Amino acid sequence: MQGMGKMDMTTMPDRARGTKKMRLKNRFRKNAPELIWRRKVYIHHSEFDNKTHETMNTERLTELIPAEKIQERVTELGAEISRELASIDELTVVCVLKGGFIFTADLVRHITIPCRIEFIRASSYGTHRASTGKVMLDHHHDPHVEGKNVLLVEDILDTGLTVTRILEELRGHNPASLHVCTLLDKPSARTTPVKADFTGFTIPDVYVVGYGLDAAGKHRELPYVASLNA
Ligand code: IMP
Ligand code: MG
Repeated sequence: MQGMGKMDMTTMPDRARGTKKMRLKNRFRKNAPELIWRRKVYIHHSEFDNKTHETMNTERLTELIPAEKIQERVTELGAEISRELASIDELTVVCVLKGGFIFTADLVRHITIPCRIEFIRASSYGTHRASTGKVMLDHHHDPHVEGKNVLLVEDILDTGLTVTRILEELRGHNPASLHVCTLLDKPSARTTPVKADFTGFTIPDVYVVGYGLDAAGKHRELPYVASLNA
């Protein structure tokens, strides 16, 4: 009986899955030791084929940053920003849509400096997960930043292309000051040298969703950050 159990445990697919998970876990331990690793896996069944009732794509979401941990850090970030920019009497917070909407909404409630909220729409990914290398800005909603003290709020700094492009655009409108705040930072994925003034969490180069971040438009509503099919 015992032998049978062992054999079941070492079938190829299980071993392959285990190894991948261990690698991800080790990467997290190395790059982001402050994060709690929770082996909470959510299986999402999507794109159910109504015709055959057979084709079903499953997605494995592994929680990387729990909701409580995010809230704790957002509160700290708000305090940090309020302290460091205390000499500013009004902050123009520019939220990068769509990914930054939840983070911005939570963050501004922890900033004690009076704020005006503006939005800028940038897209570089389309529905693909790899960066297209081209950043598109939507000029229908150009933020009013001339002479303002600006805090740009992003969901994630990956290659750095998006923030670099937005900063270039904002600088063109002569703001009085310009700071960047990002919830997540993947420094190992950077191709353009850009740094945030305020960072929530530094994570390894894994694709994440939740708390505003999406994969082809999905999973933004999740209160936690999870890796997708890692
Ligand atoms: P960058 O231009 O490569 O720095 O990418 C920034 C943008 O790509 C972010 O604002 C996100 O919209 C998207 N992005 C990068 N990495 C991820 C990820 O892991 N999950 C979801 N979106 C991501
Ligand atoms: Mg984004």
